[in-house]
Amino acid sequence: VLCYIFNMSSKILVANWKMNGSLDIFADYLKDLQKGYDFSNTQLIIAPPFPYLNFIKQKIVFESIVVAGQTAVLWNDGAKTGDINCRILKDVGCDFVILGHSECRINNTFNDGIASDTVKSALNNNLNIILCIGEEIVSERSDDVIIEQLMSGIGEIDKKYSKSIVIAYEPVWAIGTGITPTAEQILQKKQIIYAVLHSLGFIDTKIIYGGSVTPENAQYFITNAQIDGFIVGKACMKADSLKELLKYVDYATNL
Ligand code: PGA
Repeated sequence: VLCYIFNMSSKILVANWKMNGSLDIFADYLKDLQKGYDFSNTQLIIAPPFPYLNFIKQKIVFESIVVAGQTAVLWNDGAKTGDINCRILKDVGCDFVILGHSECRINNTFNDGIASDTVKSALNNNLNIILCIGEEIVSERSDDVIIEQLMSGIGEIDKKYSKSIVIAYEPVWAIGTGITPTAEQILQKKQIIYAVLHSLGFIDTKIIYGGSVTPENAQYFITNAQIDGFIVGKACMKADSLKELLKYVDYATNL
């Protein structure tokens, strides 16, 4: 079983920088972020573009802040120009990898057909996983889509890894749009996800929410949808706004 790095009771926040940032921006960000905030209760996972991973890792002073790759391919080392695999992510200091983000599903660098093998390659390389699932549009098929994405990702995975996998429910229509589901809608999907996880014996798997999370709506979601944290794009890119989000996440951890 791979080393599980966070305290089971803590909520988590994933800062997904997507294709943004620079050396200067990340240097300032890490400095501002780590000033005047007590990270002892916080699990923060920063996912920058690949070339900045090691730079950020070197600047982290708190044990509870870790870095993640935004995606990875399933192959072992070899002739795959332009690709990054889980071994390389681990080597440059990642503890996590995000798999199945809708922006990777849309450009078809990730799909349900390769989900299971990619999850296995992450686990074999001692990476924890944030597996993103979510329907593109609200329809009668929404529930089936998330069940299919979940089963193709972890249906064949041994339950001993249940602590190493985080499920991120991200309805695609909520990502970057400013449109969010209600807490009731998230709860409904969470119940479906739970049912699948339990049927597989995954009892320790955290479920987080993503899609237009802001410091204004974070508290509403975390208290009313009882999720285990967030994956955040736009609102994670300013240290102040990220610290605001962390306050709500830490508050919920301590409830
Ligand atoms: P957003 O992105 O917070 O900008 O909606 C979330 C995500 O894509 O993970």
